[in-house]
Amino acid sequence: MTSFEPRSDLDLNVPSAARAYDYFLGGAHNFAVDRAFADQVLQIAPSVPAVTLLNRAFLRRVVRYCLDQGIRQFLDLGSGIPTVGNVHEIAQQVDPAARVVYVDYEPVAYAHAKQLLSGNPFAAIIQADIREPRQILDHPETKRLIDFSEPVAVLMVGVLLFISDDDRPGDLVAAYRERLAPGSLVALSHIASELAPPELQAEVARLVQAYAAADEYVYVRTHQEILAWFDGMTLVEPGLVCLPDWSTDGRPEDEDSVARPLGYGGVGRVG
Ligand SMILES: C[S@@+](CC[C@H](N)C(=O)[O-])C[C@H]1O[C@@H](n2cnc3c(N)ncnc32)[C@H](O)[C@@H]1O
Repeated sequence: MTSFEPRSDLDLNVPSAARAYDYFLGGAHNFAVDRAFADQVLQIAPSVPAVTLLNRAFLRRVVRYCLDQGIRQFLDLGSGIPTVGNVHEIAQQVDPAARVVYVDYEPVAYAHAKQLLSGNPFAAIIQADIREPRQILDHPETKRLIDFSEPVAVLMVGVLLFISDDDRPGDLVAAYRERLAPGSLVALSHIASELAPPELQAEVARLVQAYAAADEYVYVRTHQEILAWFDGMTLVEPGLVCLPDWSTDGRPEDEDSVARPLGYGGVGRVG
């Protein structure tokens, strides 16, 4: 696995994908450089940022599903800047003692989450790179909050698109899965474009170029590639599907969104 120094820098001249995502969601934790970058993306790929809303709605549905399944421990990898409907808020509404460990390497996401979680004994944020599973799984905060002999929900929502093939996203998913007790759930979501009409595919290609020019690399993957990462797990119905279609209660959300073909989501059960 690639060795990596966690980001502890904060260069306000360089946009960040985490803070642009926050801007697309209507959040306030972004700087002028991020807003200028996000506005440029909106110009060249006006339909694509809508996928962020679908992704966030998928995350909320998944967390509710995990709670319905009796899971009370969450490891949220690439958790992003705290925004409305954070995992611990949803989980602790159902069970005030539900435990959540957030992980992100982005300094602003880390700082805001740390502030938000101060005084919450059952939730914490670790600043780390998800490509270092052992560092995260053996971190003192993870050990304090998560009992791996009991089912855990591992959330890799909207994050593996930032992991290159060289960093082997499938092996990474497996490295986390191997630590999990039977009954644990692993949720993944990812950007895609194969089902999109050509003009939307062209927008996705322009977005990828804009991110690369800003030194943030986004990898668009196929259903087949993402499905392979569920190896060793049983896919929960409805399987790996377009984000609005992932629902276990027969109530899909936002099916009319233009960004519907631009993301897949799915949940795998361990054991
Ligand atoms: C698009 S946001 C998704 C946030 C949240 N999971 C959601 O779905 O709403 C992606 C987040 O992943 C983080 N990220 C990307 N690569 C990462 C890595 N290798 N290690 C830790 N965090 C990473 C970014 O900093 C960003 O906050």
